[in-house]
Amino acid sequence: MPSDVPDAGYDLLVVANRLPVDVALGDDGEPTWTRSPGGLVTALAPVMSGADGAWIGWGGSPDLELEPFEVDGTQLVPVTLSQADVERYYEGFANDTLWPLYHDVIAPPTFHRQWWDAYQRVNKRFAEAAAKAASKGATVWVHDYQLQLVPKMLRELRPDLRIGYFHHIPFPPLEIFAQLPWRRQVVEGLLGADLVGFQRAGDAANFVRIVRRLTDLTTRGQVVTLMKHGRVDRHVRAAAFPISIDSHAFDDLARSHDVQMRAKQLRHELGDPKVVLLGVDRLDYTKGIRHRIKAYGELIEDGRLSSQDTVLIQVASPSRENVGAYQQLRDEVELLVGRINGDFGQVGHQPVQYLHQSFPMEEMAALYLAADVMLVTALRDGMNLVAKEYVAARSDDRGALVLSEFTGAADELQGAVLVNPHDIDGMKDAITYAVHMDQREARKRMRRLRRRVLGHDVTAWSKEFLAVLTAIPARTDHV
Ligand code: F6P
Repeated sequence: MPSDVPDAGYDLLVVANRLPVDVALGDDGEPTWTRSPGGLVTALAPVMSGADGAWIGWGGSPDLELEPFEVDGTQLVPVTLSQADVERYYEGFANDTLWPLYHDVIAPPTFHRQWWDAYQRVNKRFAEAAAKAASKGATVWVHDYQLQLVPKMLRELRPDLRIGYFHHIPFPPLEIFAQLPWRRQVVEGLLGADLVGFQRAGDAANFVRIVRRLTDLTTRGQVVTLMKHGRVDRHVRAAAFPISIDSHAFDDLARSHDVQMRAKQLRHELGDPKVVLLGVDRLDYTKGIRHRIKAYGELIEDGRLSSQDTVLIQVASPSRENVGAYQQLRDEVELLVGRINGDFGQVGHQPVQYLHQSFPMEEMAALYLAADVMLVTALRDGMNLVAKEYVAARSDDRGALVLSEFTGAADELQGAVLVNPHDIDGMKDAITYAVHMDQREARKRMRRLRRRVLGHDVTAWSKEFLAVLTAIPARTDHV
C-alpha cells in the first residue's frame, strides 16, 4: 500500500550509501563533520549545493542517530546503520559479495544469506527515508550498487515519484551476474526505476540482456516494458551516462600559484629525478596496483628505467580495511614495494614512494602536476575519475596518461596510451613509450584528452541524466 503522500518535502532527493560528509558526535553530543572522500561525493556535491534538494545517506560511523542537518546549503538526512548493518550490509554484501562479483570476480565473491537479509533490511530503511522526505511527484535519484533494491521498494511506497538510478561501478555480463543467488530480486529492484543509468554502453547492454534472460519482460532496444493486469504499466529506460569530475574547479586549482610551487617542491624533495611516475588509487584489488608495481620493478631490473633517475609515487588511500581481501592486498603491495626498494634503493633514494594515506585535493593536484606519467592500470573500473583529474590538472599540456582498457574512462579518453594490465610485457612497453614520448606527441594527446574532460564535466553529466529522467511524465494517476 502506498504511504501517505506528504504535502511538503523535497523536490529533488539524492539517495546514496554515504552522505557527502563523514559525521562524528562530539563530547557534547553535537555532530561535527568533515567532507568525505570518494568519487560519488566529488561528483554530486556541486549538483546538490546548486539545487533545492536533500541528500539521504549514512554518516560513515555505526550507530549514529542524527536529526537532518545542513552543510554548505545542502540538506542532509542521515540514515542510521548499526554495527551489525555495517558488517553485513556494507562490508559484507556490498563490498564482499557485489563488489567482487561486479568487477569480473577478480576476488571471489562471498555469498551469505545473513548478509542478503541485512542488504534487504537496510535498502528498506533508505527507501522509507526517501518516501518520507520526497514531495508529491518529486524526483529521486538513487545511487549505486549498495542500494539496488531501493527503486522497487520506493515505488511501492510512493508510486507518484520519478525514480532514477545510477550505477557507478561496472555491470557484469549475465554469465557472471547469474552466480548471484538473489539475481532476480536485484534485477526487479532496479526495474523499480524509470531510468537506469550506467557508465558505459556495454554496462547498459549487459543489464538489458540480463533482464531478457532472467525475467519474462519484453525489451526493445534499451527500453524494458513492464506489464500489470495484462496491460502496459510503464517503461524503464537503460542508458549510458559516463560520469565526470568538476573539471574546471580542478583546472583552476592546478593553475594556482601555491599548487604550482608545491609541484616543484615535490620534485625537489624527491631528489629532482628525471622521471616521475604516479599511481593514485584507493587500495583496492580492482585497481591493478600490484600489476603496475610489478611492471615498474621489472623495468628497473631490466635497466630500461634507471633506478636512480626514476621515482614511482604510489598513493594508496586506505579503504574497506575490515574486509579480508583488502587486508591481504595491503600485505601483498607492501611486500612488493619493500622488495623493489630493498633491491634497487640507495640511502636517501627509494624507487617507489609508497603512501598509504589520503591527501587533500591541493596536494593531489600538485602530485598530478609533478608527474611525467600517470599510471591508471585498473583490472576493472566503472569509470576511474583519477584519470580525469590528472588530465584536468595538466593545463600545461604536458604529461602522459597510461590507461587500462578495462576502465570506463578508456571509452572516452582518446589520447591515452591504452594497456591491458594483465599483459605485464605490454604494460612495460607502454610505460617506456610514455616516458620517452616526444613533446609534440604528448602535447597533441593531452590537448585531445583535455577537450573531452573539460568539455564534459560532472555538471554536464548530472544535467544529462536529470534531463532524461524529468522528461519522463510524472505518474499523477497514482497520487
Ligand atoms: O566506486 C564506487 C564507490 O562506492 C564510490 O562511490 C566511492 O567513492 C568508493 O567506491 C569508495 O566507497 P566506500 O568507501 O563508500 O566503500
